[in-house]
Amino acid sequence: MMKLIWLGASIIAPAVVQAEQSSYHNPILPGFHPDPSCIFVPEYNETFFCTSSTFSWFPGLPVYASRDLVHWKHVSNALSRPDQLPYLGYLNRGQSGIYAPTIRYRDGVFTIMTTLANQALPRENLTRWDNIIFNTRDPYGEWDDPIHYYGPGIDPTPFWDDDGVAWVTSTFNSSGVVQAPVNLTTGEVTLPYRWLWLGSGGAAPEGARVIKKDGWYYALLAEGGTREKHMVTMARSRSLHGPYEGAPNNPLLTAYNNTNSYFQAVGHADLFQDAKGQWWASGLAVRAGGNYADDPYHANFPMGRETFLVPVEWPEGEFPIFQNVSGTMSGDFTLPQPSGPETVPPQGSGKLVNANDEVDFEPGSQLPPHFLHWRIPHVKNYKVSPEGHENQLALRSSVLNLTGFDGDSSLGLGQTFVSRRQSHSLFKFSVEIDWKGHLTRDSEEVGVSVMQDQSQHFDIGIVQLSSTEPKNKTSGTLYPVPENEFGPIPDITKLVPDAEPKPYIRFGGIGITGFRRANATRWAEDLTELPEGWADSKLKFQIEAVNTTHYSFSAGPAGSSDENLRVFGYTRGDLMVPIYSGTTVGAYATSNGRYGEGAFTAYVSKWRYTGIKQVIEEP
Ligand SMILES: *[C@@H]1O[C@H](CO)[C@@H](O)[C@H](O)[C@H]1NC(C)=O
Ligand SMILES: *[C@@H]1O[C@H](CO)[C@@H](O)[C@H](O)[C@H]1NC(C)=O
Ligand SMILES: *[C@@H]1O[C@H](CO)[C@@H](O)[C@H](O)[C@H]1NC(C)=O
Ligand SMILES: *[C@@H]1O[C@H](CO)[C@@H](O)[C@H](O)[C@H]1NC(C)=O
Ligand SMILES: *[C@@H]1O[C@H](CO)[C@@H](O)[C@H](O)[C@H]1NC(C)=O
Ligand SMILES: *[C@@H]1O[C@H](CO)[C@@H](O)[C@H](O)[C@H]1NC(C)=O
Ligand SMILES: *[C@@H]1O[C@H](CO)[C@@H](O)[C@H](O)[C@H]1NC(C)=O
Ligand SMILES: *[C@@H]1O[C@H](CO)[C@@H](O)[C@H](O)[C@H]1NC(C)=O
Ligand SMILES: *[C@@H]1O[C@H](CO)[C@@H](O)[C@H](O)[C@H]1NC(C)=O
Ligand SMILES: *[C@@H]1O[C@H](CO)[C@@H](O)[C@H](O)[C@H]1NC(C)=O
Repeated sequence: MMKLIWLGASIIAPAVVQAEQSSYHNPILPGFHPDPSCIFVPEYNETFFCTSSTFSWFPGLPVYASRDLVHWKHVSNALSRPDQLPYLGYLNRGQSGIYAPTIRYRDGVFTIMTTLANQALPRENLTRWDNIIFNTRDPYGEWDDPIHYYGPGIDPTPFWDDDGVAWVTSTFNSSGVVQAPVNLTTGEVTLPYRWLWLGSGGAAPEGARVIKKDGWYYALLAEGGTREKHMVTMARSRSLHGPYEGAPNNPLLTAYNNTNSYFQAVGHADLFQDAKGQWWASGLAVRAGGNYADDPYHANFPMGRETFLVPVEWPEGEFPIFQNVSGTMSGDFTLPQPSGPETVPPQGSGKLVNANDEVDFEPGSQLPPHFLHWRIPHVKNYKVSPEGHENQLALRSSVLNLTGFDGDSSLGLGQTFVSRRQSHSLFKFSVEIDWKGHLTRDSEEVGVSVMQDQSQHFDIGIVQLSSTEPKNKTSGTLYPVPENEFGPIPDITKLVPDAEPKPYIRFGGIGITGFRRANATRWAEDLTELPEGWADSKLKFQIEAVNTTHYSFSAGPAGSSDENLRVFGYTRGDLMVPIYSGTTVGAYATSNGRYGEGAFTAYVSKWRYTGIKQVIEEP
């Protein structure tokens, strides 16, 4: 009660809390950080924590911490061990996986609720949504194995009522918000789920959250779908169970119809209050601008949905007022002033969310916690500094390349790829690769990729080819896969030996999605015989976002400076439409469908990622 009185007073008499001009930049979590949820935890040295959805990428559910809302350190991954959710490796749609999470703290326990969605199942089948709870007492360390609970729908959020009972709120069947009591340590739900609010009429209600303030229960909702019509709406009731009445001026925040904003698709908010009582909203937006609203599926925003922060004024007894999202936020708010010198907690092994990489795979080290794999990695395919290859990362090749069987499924097979988020509009990423003597047979390939998903990735690498004519990939050596899963086993009597393969630089890619029209880019490639003098050394491969619309792909002998790298091609950012996730850049090793797992091992070193520019206004 004290707090409420003090808060009210602060609004009536601004002198109580000094409103100061402050400014900061959006997005606060740049790059692939969709569907964020954030909290403030006074008990943990007044620290803010956020997490976001990760779909098929692993590790998942990164947790970031900050004391000033400006610097964000990656402190843990709630989904960090393959055995926490082995099924993630088998979901055969790339946009399945970890959906919108909510992070909350209560009585010493951090909880993340989320949904493991299997888009391949029909909507009527409730097992399409596996609802799960991750708990930990140490947000800087490991999270527990998830607890599975019965919940229709997606985007679960816990809300504790005054009597201490935890209620889970989900959005069901794109129709509205449902709620039931849940035991967060056992996953036991007290049925039935009841409808709470159907939303203000926008399509696809999602990410519902309940907040109690001034004797009102407020329901916070994302509506309109997560693209151009995305919006934040609210309703309130004197009773948790309603009836809820929508805010008279819904939507309370949106970029819909505001074509001037570089930040589009604004929505999916969470609300939290800092130590001084200032309210804040996190949410998602895409840096697209331009023609985004006219044609979101052909717009240019490969980094996908990112996390923004806006100050919120929430007068007593009224609905909150959200500031609009822009690249530079300024106004009458005060950013939290950490009591000590630290803007981020010292705990947690990660780096700042926008940090560069200079990774040399030192003996005894591990892959950094922000490195990402596509689906659950086969751990034996990645070895840091193996004997005789110190300061290198051994990549054991997968049968599958990044496209996999059909640009979508991988049926539990690994796809050897290790990457990190594209965290800047403009950046440079390079590695050196020791391939000589390791890649010897037709179709063996190692290189770097900018990847959105299996049907949208552009690569440059070195590949051994016996012939540059298109041919049936199974005409050489048989690889041992069971007939029922992967189609007929080739007729062994018709196998022809490969001609002596030659190394080529291959720049290629694919850019199709379910949303994209028929004229999308199918697999296309340029092959260049390995240039004179390149065969005797390791090679350096580089991907650079040269401007906000184009990536360049270059290569050269190891140690080449930028000027001495040869550009093999460009691709456009709008060929990588983020369905739900966003681009990562990294290194892959594959035998392109032949020989079996581990056909060869190549060695990656000098992993460098340098952010060059964060573009936050229409360029
Ligand atoms: C708060 O900070 C102090 C001093 O750095 C540290 O000893 C303590 O562990 C921190 N508490 C938490 C919960 O992180
Ligand atoms: C739902 O999907 C699961 C997994 O594929 C399957 O075992 C189950 O039979 C399906 N249930 C219905 C009602 O279709
Ligand atoms: C889900 O919504 C559709 C209409 O959008 C409706 O036809 C269907 O009955 C709903 N299913 C359930 C289980 O409510
Ligand atoms: C959750 O279930 C456990 C085990 O049955 C029980 O000990 C605990 O009290 C329950 N929690 C709540 C909040 O009811
Ligand atoms: C956006 O514009 C359309 C068409 O004029 C209108 O129907 C819709 O209500 C507007 N939405 C918002 C949130 O302004
Ligand atoms: C946000 O932008 C909209 C559209 O331009 C405007 O109507 C609204 O007043 C702005 N909100 C605030 C808090 O300034
Ligand atoms: C190669 O594959 C194509 C398409 O799968 C098939 O039609 C053709 O018969 C195959 N050729 C040989 C020589 O096996
Ligand atoms: C793709 O096709 C559509 C309609 O068929 C056309 O309007 C559009 O310009 C085409 N886009 C490209 C990049 O060719
Ligand atoms: C971006 O870079 C590409 C590749 O160099 C170039 O074709 C394009 O014109 C550039 N765009 C702008 C706006 O400079
Ligand atoms: C990728 O692998 C598939 C087999 O999984 C193969 O059919 C395809 O040709 C490969 N792509 C390239 C570019 O070699």
